[in-house]
Amino acid sequence: IMNKHTLTLCAFLPFAASAAQFSVTSKPFGEIDGKSVELYTLSNESGAKVSITNYGGTVTSIVVPDKGGKMGDVVLGFDSVAEYVEKSPYFGCITGRYANRIANGKFTLDGKDYSVATNNDPNHLHGGLKGFDKKIWKARIGNMGDSPSLVLTYTSPDGEEGYPGTLNNSVTYTWTQDNALRIRYKSTTDKPTILNLTNHSYFNLAGEGDKTNLQHRVKINAEHYNPIDETSIPTGIAPVEGTPFDFRKPTQIGKRINEENEQLKNGKGYDHNFVLKKTDDGKLMTAAVVTEPTSGRILTVKTTEPGIQFYTGNFLDDLKGKGGKNYAHRSAFCLESQTFPDSPNQKEFPSPVLRPGETYSQVTVYHFGLKGNPQKKKNKN
Ligand code: GLA
Repeated sequence: IMNKHTLTLCAFLPFAASAAQFSVTSKPFGEIDGKSVELYTLSNESGAKVSITNYGGTVTSIVVPDKGGKMGDVVLGFDSVAEYVEKSPYFGCITGRYANRIANGKFTLDGKDYSVATNNDPNHLHGGLKGFDKKIWKARIGNMGDSPSLVLTYTSPDGEEGYPGTLNNSVTYTWTQDNALRIRYKSTTDKPTILNLTNHSYFNLAGEGDKTNLQHRVKINAEHYNPIDETSIPTGIAPVEGTPFDFRKPTQIGKRINEENEQLKNGKGYDHNFVLKKTDDGKLMTAAVVTEPTSGRILTVKTTEPGIQFYTGNFLDDLKGKGGKNYAHRSAFCLESQTFPDSPNQKEFPSPVLRPGETYSQVTVYHFGLKGNPQKKKNKN
């Protein structure tokens, strides 16, 4: 339904052999502090679509077919921006400036000590009290060939949430014709700083609101992971071999999640960074593949980042979501591409430092496919 706020962009590419179509619509999604927030929907020719609000750059829904051709929403979220403000456990948002934890909210950079909020006692989590997930981003509609895109920008002032440097950020979401959500992050700074950006979507490939994630079969391209202490700070790098963290072969989440294991105890389940096996730094490589048997949906995650946080929704606990659906304990999982948690304090980890003149750049792709229907070769993500 169109109203005066609704904007539609449709494209018919005249010179493409099979004219691929897409559309981008926008509608009001509510108000925060007197500022209106929009919800953008990017649809491809098949009708598969993703919705994103400029509040936190949050992905609110991803609607893709199951093996029977039936469309379903595979990410958790809320129907209004007010609910995101009130109770979101980082559903679908961009987390920053530093995704995941910094021990005791302290780090040293070029000999200077910095303190950031300890909003996850005793540690810093996901950028602090008002991180990027709680900011209103500027939005611009664009397109990449026959794929619609949304460009979000946000300038974080020097000292915001205790971090040094004015940080100029852009996050471009592109929804491809073969159902991939491609996220490109770019940031620059005017002073040395640290950063680690990610998208915090919670997936359930059987459809959001499904009561469990345990049936998903997960493969992660990692021979090592970061064990954590009782406050979820990495204690080093350890081999996955012989542990419940070995996902080198596809394994059901539920198979080992309840084993007696100190690491599963510390994370309350899986909530750990996996050290991705990289052959070429900075190149887009497959990080994880998740299959859901009933729907036949397959999620493939590719990233240029060195790590990925695999989180199994251990802190979810009967939260009321979209359409009044119940989001139960462990009814979704996250795969958050990143540098490693607490890397500002751990020298053996990839450096999260960004200096003036450099550009932070990350590409992460979430592709939604179907069993027995391999990703089309012609689409380059
Ligand atoms: C990340 C963290 C988890 C948890 C969630 C949000 O995935 O690693 O411990 O804080 O975010 O609830």
